[in-house]
Amino acid sequence: MSARGSPESAGTREVRLLAPCKLNLFLEVLAKRRDGYHELITLMVAVSLYDTLIVRPQPAGTNRLHCCWSAGRRAVRGAGWDPATGVWDDLPQDQENLVYQTVEALCRAAPGAQGWEIWLWKRIPTRAGLGGASSDAAAVLKACTRIGPRVDAEQLAAIAGTLGSDVPFFLNVGAAVGEGRGERIYPVRPVPHYHFVVTRPPVGLSTAEVYRNCRLPSKPRDVSATLEAFGSGDPVRLGRTLFNRLQEAAREINPWVNRMEKLFAASGCLGYQMTGSGSSFFGLCRHARHARRVAAWLRAMRAGAVYHVTTLALESLGASEPAEGDCHGNHRGSHQAYGEHG
Ligand code: C5P
Repeated sequence: MSARGSPESAGTREVRLLAPCKLNLFLEVLAKRRDGYHELITLMVAVSLYDTLIVRPQPAGTNRLHCCWSAGRRAVRGAGWDPATGVWDDLPQDQENLVYQTVEALCRAAPGAQGWEIWLWKRIPTRAGLGGASSDAAAVLKACTRIGPRVDAEQLAAIAGTLGSDVPFFLNVGAAVGEGRGERIYPVRPVPHYHFVVTRPPVGLSTAEVYRNCRLPSKPRDVSATLEAFGSGDPVRLGRTLFNRLQEAAREINPWVNRMEKLFAASGCLGYQMTGSGSSFFGLCRHARHARRVAAWLRAMRAGAVYHVTTLALESLGASEPAEGDCHGNHRGSHQAYGEHG
């Protein structure tokens, strides 16, 4: 963040939040809708790779966004990665960014809403199927309504649904079954502690393109086996039930999907697949040591940006809040495992 864009903390009301990303442990596509979206059923879980946001009211009534990549991008450059490979895509600025569109939507919906100045430090890769932009949007909705206009939960969920299919999930991070286009959320509790290794290959994917390329199944799969395995806390069992219908569609668009499948098959993970519409893959591991070993191997294979993450300890999140932390993303509370890159 440039000096011009750095927030001064003295004496101003502001909220700092960590916005986690998500993995889809199960995703089945059920039908194509008239509005162009697809009807689906998915099991999503929030994991410990975060963007950091600071939100502060702007008395002038205008909205401003300062947005940049956090340390990860520097680390990748330092490691000799060519940023042109696309792991670190250009970030949408100002009106192009979903965060900006979120505060504009809130200002329209909530009488008395003022302007906001927002600082966003990105770590979650884009075009990755990790829901980073949606999580940022949900975090901003929560932050603004904590210090600004009161908006009831129902209205907040309605605004979230208009911003993107994954935004409502991030209003209640943890784990949830998503239905409809993914915006109808049924929280799943408890959330057992699992270790994953996530890899974002150098080439990302467009959500719309992947859905367009998806062939509908004649016999859709049921989420219940994955849901039960998830609740058991047994990574071996969960590893056997992972499923993502969009993987086949993504394979035809991006050759990295096939490469990821081969790498993860050889990685020793208990189960693996693409998350959401890709292009990131994740593998399920037995424990932290196993995950560190797999992550080191994937880095050595130059698989892209590699992260060891865990499910989030809900008590560290408050009732339904994302974790708070400082502007460097240092997380107070639950086990954290920031991405390491290279
Ligand atoms: O909801 P979101 O803006 O993230 O979706 C991006 C695009 O992905 C949509 O415009 C649509 O083409 C596709 N999509 C879909 N069915 C879903 C979710 C997304 O077809 N359930």
